[in-house]
Amino acid sequence: MPLKSQIEAVREQFRAALSNFPSDPREADQVRIRFLGRKGLIARLFEEFAQLPPEQKPVFGKELNLLKKEITDQLQAALQALSQTAQPQARRSVDYTLPGRSFQLGKRHPLTQTLEEVKRIFTQIGFAVAYGPEIDDDFHNFEALNIPEHHPARDMQDTFFIEPKVVLRTHTSNVQIHLMEENDPPIRFIVPGRVYRNEAISFKSYCLFHQVEGLYVDKRVTFTELKGTLTYFIHQMFGPEVQIRFRPSFFPFTEPSAEVDIWNEERRQWMEILGCGMVDPAVFDNVGYDSRIWHGYAFGLGIERIAMLKYHIQDIRLFYQNDLRFLRQF
Ligand code: DAH
Repeated sequence: MPLKSQIEAVREQFRAALSNFPSDPREADQVRIRFLGRKGLIARLFEEFAQLPPEQKPVFGKELNLLKKEITDQLQAALQALSQTAQPQARRSVDYTLPGRSFQLGKRHPLTQTLEEVKRIFTQIGFAVAYGPEIDDDFHNFEALNIPEHHPARDMQDTFFIEPKVVLRTHTSNVQIHLMEENDPPIRFIVPGRVYRNEAISFKSYCLFHQVEGLYVDKRVTFTELKGTLTYFIHQMFGPEVQIRFRPSFFPFTEPSAEVDIWNEERRQWMEILGCGMVDPAVFDNVGYDSRIWHGYAFGLGIERIAMLKYHIQDIRLFYQNDLRFLRQF
């Protein structure tokens, strides 16, 4: 067959192959090899071309190069189109051999963990858990707790006022009053909650913090029981090795009153964690309990202070910054 007809025949074959181009990448590559491979149809035409007499070479050389370029360009375009439609399909399919994607579990805030530990210890020895309002009136936060207006004890707790007689509670002691108004004695409650104080911020004081109030009222309640209960709690919380001291103090709603300190080895100083005392008869009178029959003890724990000592945290503000480098450690 003359070379001219052979060139046309290969061109026809290529057009046929292109109009029926396979979608499988490996079959598509076979088409490329059949035409452009080292022993492919084009290569064979060039072998024939080499045999031609010199005067015919310019014409057929041009024809052949044209055909080769045509096939190379069109094949490249077809292969590219194939890879573009094939890729989204590959992305959609699922590779079951891939390792699973792991995700991080969150953790409870260290203050929540400390609060739950406090609740666990006290509920195990018979205290019920109660809650009360964070916004309260002057009567429940101060007056009924034997802190009258203009009494110097109000200076102990700088207050955020909502209205002249409505405050953000400065302590959870307001719930003592609510509990006694709503329940007849004997009662035994703990009250976890947030409290607010408009005071100077430092490593150990913040404008918002958490307390757990305790209140036990019965016919015969002694200071020894109060001391024993709190010592038991502290040993449960910190272990039997912890150094504690009860220090005489003053609160208008308890008589006698004490504060409890824990030795902070890192700072080499005592740190106050709670106030406590025997419920003042004046408080019982304010809620209608007969103070000749009923006696009680009360206490208020500072949760941040306890968490600082337990987890060796040097600054109370860390609890409120939500820095993940801090939170991940608990
Ligand atoms: N309410 C006091 C405070 O926030 C703490 C306190 C002291 C609570 C003595 C009590 C208590 O129940 O008996 O500083």
